[in-house]
Amino acid sequence: MFPPVRKAVFPAAGLGTRFLPATKAVPKEMLSLVDKPLIQYGVEECVAAGLLHSIIVTSRGKTTIEDHFDQSFELEQVLARRDKKELLAVARSVAKLTQISYVRQAEALGLGHAVLCARELVGPEPFAVVLSDDVIDSVAPCVGQLAAVHAKYGASVIALMEVPRDQISSYGSVDADEVEPGLFKIKSLVEKPKPEEAPSNLAIIGRYVLTPEIFDSLTKITPGAGGEIQLTDGMRHLLGTQPIYGLKFEGRRFDAGDKQGFLRATVEFGLKHPALGESFRGYLKGLSL
Ligand code: UTP
Repeated sequence: MFPPVRKAVFPAAGLGTRFLPATKAVPKEMLSLVDKPLIQYGVEECVAAGLLHSIIVTSRGKTTIEDHFDQSFELEQVLARRDKKELLAVARSVAKLTQISYVRQAEALGLGHAVLCARELVGPEPFAVVLSDDVIDSVAPCVGQLAAVHAKYGASVIALMEVPRDQISSYGSVDADEVEPGLFKIKSLVEKPKPEEAPSNLAIIGRYVLTPEIFDSLTKITPGAGGEIQLTDGMRHLLGTQPIYGLKFEGRRFDAGDKQGFLRATVEFGLKHPALGESFRGYLKGLSL
């Protein structure tokens, strides 16, 4: 039996430059798909997978994330006074979702550095990393799919997705052997390779389960692509001492940190929304495109 995955780290201290000007004063993680901020989708995914402690890595200008997951006494009082029971339940439920801790990354030195900032809060146990701008629509929570592989092999596991080769330079990519249908043993990893140098068209998506030894690896690497401490480089270092697996997860992923991806996700989640879906479908059908 391997130790269970109980905690999830949400790096949310990036600058969100692809989504300017929206992200100038509003954290990317707080952009909403229909009626819920991106980071809440990620937290709910972890709760559904049984991970009941979320650790959010924030920075200056991100206090709305903390406010969102906190109680809002004034709002609750007004809703109670107006007898808006359903809205009151919605407002209250967010603060009760899960246990959340916060840690600050003083400078945006890269995703790997953001993960390292959570070291003390994670401690010596396996943990998940969730990039909340990768929104995943799936039957089984993607983090849970990775945790199931960790439970079997006791190793780090990363989420993989096939992408067209000309798009691979936007992602980390892996060289890997398929050991079970959809499950790969990683041989090497590279961050944002040129298409002609990419080891495969398997892209690393923003869900990981990592063993705690990743923290030591992250202290040993130097800045990589974009001058940042890259998580992919840390995992390549870890691969020197431990196996790492990759899972082609079941589900659809939307890059909601990108304007085009965000629009697509908005349409898809709008269509699936229990209260709005039907009328939204009617509206879309009526568009003369
Ligand atoms: P991204 O590569 O999406 O970077 O980071 P970004 O700065 O948020 O957005 P763009 O590319 O400029 O538009 C992936 C994740 O890592 C976090 C981001 O908040 C995002 O969730 N991150 C990145 C940090 O927490 N700290 C960093 O130094 C860099």
